[in-house]
Amino acid sequence: VGYDQPYRPQFHFSSLRNWLNDPNGMVYLDGEYHLFFQHNPVATVWGNMTWGHAVSRDMVRWKQLPHAILPYEGGTIFSGTAAVDVNNTLGVQKGDVKTLVAAFTFAKSPFYQAMAYSTDQGRTFELWNEGKAIVANQGYDSGERDPKIFWHEPSKKWVMVLWVKQAKPGRVLFFNSDDLQKWTEVSQFDRDWVFECMDLVELTVDGDPNQKKWLLYDASFEYEIGEFDGKTFTTDRKVHRGDYGPNYYAAQSFNNMPDDRCVSIGWMRGDNHPFLKEDMPFNQQMSFPTTMELKSTADGLKLYRWPVKEIEDLYGDTLTIEAADLKSAANKLQSYPAELVDLSLDFEANDSTELLLYLRGEKITYREAAFHYGNTVVPAKPVDGIVSLRVLVDRASVELFVNQGAAVSTHYAILEPLNRSLGLSSEQNVKIRKLTVNRLKSAW
Ligand code: FRU
Repeated sequence: VGYDQPYRPQFHFSSLRNWLNDPNGMVYLDGEYHLFFQHNPVATVWGNMTWGHAVSRDMVRWKQLPHAILPYEGGTIFSGTAAVDVNNTLGVQKGDVKTLVAAFTFAKSPFYQAMAYSTDQGRTFELWNEGKAIVANQGYDSGERDPKIFWHEPSKKWVMVLWVKQAKPGRVLFFNSDDLQKWTEVSQFDRDWVFECMDLVELTVDGDPNQKKWLLYDASFEYEIGEFDGKTFTTDRKVHRGDYGPNYYAAQSFNNMPDDRCVSIGWMRGDNHPFLKEDMPFNQQMSFPTTMELKSTADGLKLYRWPVKEIEDLYGDTLTIEAADLKSAANKLQSYPAELVDLSLDFEANDSTELLLYLRGEKITYREAAFHYGNTVVPAKPVDGIVSLRVLVDRASVELFVNQGAAVSTHYAILEPLNRSLGLSSEQNVKIRKLTVNRLKSAW
């Protein structure tokens, strides 16, 4: 099959064949990032949920490995997370290689949470206790899913965050464990917005490693910021939106990162199966990995997301334009066709500024202090008189990052394979501070 079909993402992960949805078990261990994913091994539509598996040394170039966790006893394997058992609390470590533990939902009514582990750097997994429950069904039938597990160093406990389905408000259950085997419920968090695939992570504030807050988000990437003491999550109850686009779902973040970054990947959910209409051998794709940081703004703390710097390894030729008027910038851009693009545009703007950016047939408009793309409106107020936009364009996606990541919008987009044209226009003489176009090489 290979990775070179007309609509095959070139720097976004997709499975070699067949269907994928949620990222699962994202974790770093011994020089490798692991990305597991909801996968149908036998068809290009959802079903037969199995954990697919891929590894990477840079979060950009992935190598798909054999499936990690397969259905058993008439149940399939739904979403979950993985962690490194740094202190060998499970007691199965072999030599110096830390054990990888994967918590997942065993999907056979009534659902329960189960675990698998690997003592060979994720190459093979064993079911823990034959795949029996580590957290039994809590009374919500199939509406209890997607365990997030992590080691909470200050309280020296394992924590599990579990979404359960009930009429509004939705509910998140928090559990503690000493040994990954016996779990005790320690708190509940009830909110209208929570729905599936909860993730809870500690993030730096304003880049200061001594200042940290916790972020709780769900599958549709709504989030709250607060404090977490190992048992209870407390917040100011303000709910924010982490992505403005229609195609960012079920994101999670890497456990056990080798540096102080927090990096997340979402399922770039595409309804109506655009890939199948184009006869692709695979269906669905992941978003490009983004760092997550909290920054103080006039509206309080907010989440900023930004493509990981490892994308630079894919840079080919670059066009750079500085301090230009609109016409001359537009002329240069027009003579720089590209297929895979990482473009940054900084321009002077006020409330009445209007501008159009064309990327391979896709049209992004700036007006009324927002970017408009399809039906999506992404807020983009000038900061000190400047608006800045970064756009990643692949064969089947467009991702917008506004004002250094203050607003992000993720889009599935079936781009015309042969269209390489880039363009810029405006009725106004908008001053371009800087325009950079990096042509990207394929990651495959
Ligand atoms: C989210 C989700 C999860 C579930 C998985 C099944 O997209 O519905 O809640 O575990 O997909 O594939």
